Amino acid sequence: MEEIERVALEEIEKAKTPEELRHIEVKYLGKKGIITEQLKGLGTLEPEKRREKGMALNRAKQVILEAIKRQSKRIVELQALSEGRIDPTLPGITPQVGHIHPLSQVLEEVIEIFYSLGYYVMDFYEVETEYYNFEALNIPKDHPARDLQDTFYLEDGFLLRTHTSAGQIRAMRLLPPPFRAVFPGKVFRFEATDASHEHTFHQLEGLMIDRHVSVAHLLSAMMTLLTAIFGKDVGVRLRPGYFPFVEPGFELDISCSVCEGKGCSVCKHSGYVEFLGCGLVHPNVIRAGGLDPKEWEGWAFGIGLSRLVMMRYKVSDIRWLFSGDLRFVRQF
Ligand code: DAH
Repeated sequence: MEEIERVALEEIEKAKTPEELRHIEVKYLGKKGIITEQLKGLGTLEPEKRREKGMALNRAKQVILEAIKRQSKRIVELQALSEGRIDPTLPGITPQVGHIHPLSQVLEEVIEIFYSLGYYVMDFYEVETEYYNFEALNIPKDHPARDLQDTFYLEDGFLLRTHTSAGQIRAMRLLPPPFRAVFPGKVFRFEATDASHEHTFHQLEGLMIDRHVSVAHLLSAMMTLLTAIFGKDVGVRLRPGYFPFVEPGFELDISCSVCEGKGCSVCKHSGYVEFLGCGLVHPNVIRAGGLDPKEWEGWAFGIGLSRLVMMRYKVSDIRWLFSGDLRFVRQF
C-alpha cells in the first residue's frame, strides 16, 4: 500500500496539465482504478484483515485526493504565471515589526560609550526618599534650593526622584573608591509642560571618585563624552551654574542642532540648549556617601537624555517623546 501511495504521489507531482492529473486520478481512483479494485476485493477477506486493509486503502485514497488538489492548484498558478496573468515582481505583504523607541536607542548607544570607557552602568530607584534626592545632596529641608526642583511627593517621606543625582550617594556607598559610574533613568518634575519641559523625562548621571580631581579632569572628560556622543566636535558654552551638590558647579550648553544655532522654540531663541550640569562633588556629599572628603574627591555630571534625543533627531517638542503617537515613533 505504501508503495502504491509513493508512486502515485510521484506521478502527481510530475503532472504538468489538468489532463495528466485527470488521467492519474482515473488510474488510481476511477471505476477500474488501482485503489478501487482493491476496495472491491475487500469482501473476500476475513473481518479482521478487512478492517485493517480497508483503513489503509481509505487513507491512501485521501492522501492521493489531497495531492491531486494541491497539484491542480499549482498547475493553475503556473499557467497564470506563464500567461503573464500573475506579476511575481509585485511586493508581498510586509509583516509589521516593532522597533526600539528613539529614547532607548540613544540610551543604549550612550551606555555603550561609557561602558567602553570603563564606567559601571547602574540602575537606581524612581521612587526615592527625600534624604537621597535632597538632604544627602546638600539640599536641606528648608533651603530655598528645594524650590528649584518641585516634585510629586508620596507618603512616608517618599517622592518621585527629580534627578538621577539621587543615585550618587547610593553609588558611593556601593562601590569601593576609586570608581566611575553612570546611572541613567526616568526623572519627574512637578511643572508646567511646554516644548522643552515635560513632567517625566530621562537623565543620565555620571560620577567619578578618585584622590585628586580637578576641573581640568572634569572638562576633559566632558569633551571626550561629547565627541563620542555626537561623533564630531560640537559648539559648547560653559557657564557657572548653581547646584548645591557641586562646588564649583557649571552648566554646559551645546549649540542647538534643531535650528543650527539660529534660534527656535527649543533653545528659546538663544541658539544654545542646556545639555548638562556638572561640577566637583561637594565635600558634604562625599561625606554623606560615607567617604572622607580629605581623602576622596570627585566630579559629577547630569545629562538631559531627552534633550539629547531631541538634538539628535531634530525633534522640536519634548512632548512628542511620550505622546504614544505611533506616527511619531515610526519615523525612527
Ligand atoms: N541634577 C541636576 C539637575 O537635574 C543636574 C546636575 C547638575 C547633575 C550638576 C550633576 C551635577 O551631577 O554635577 O538639574
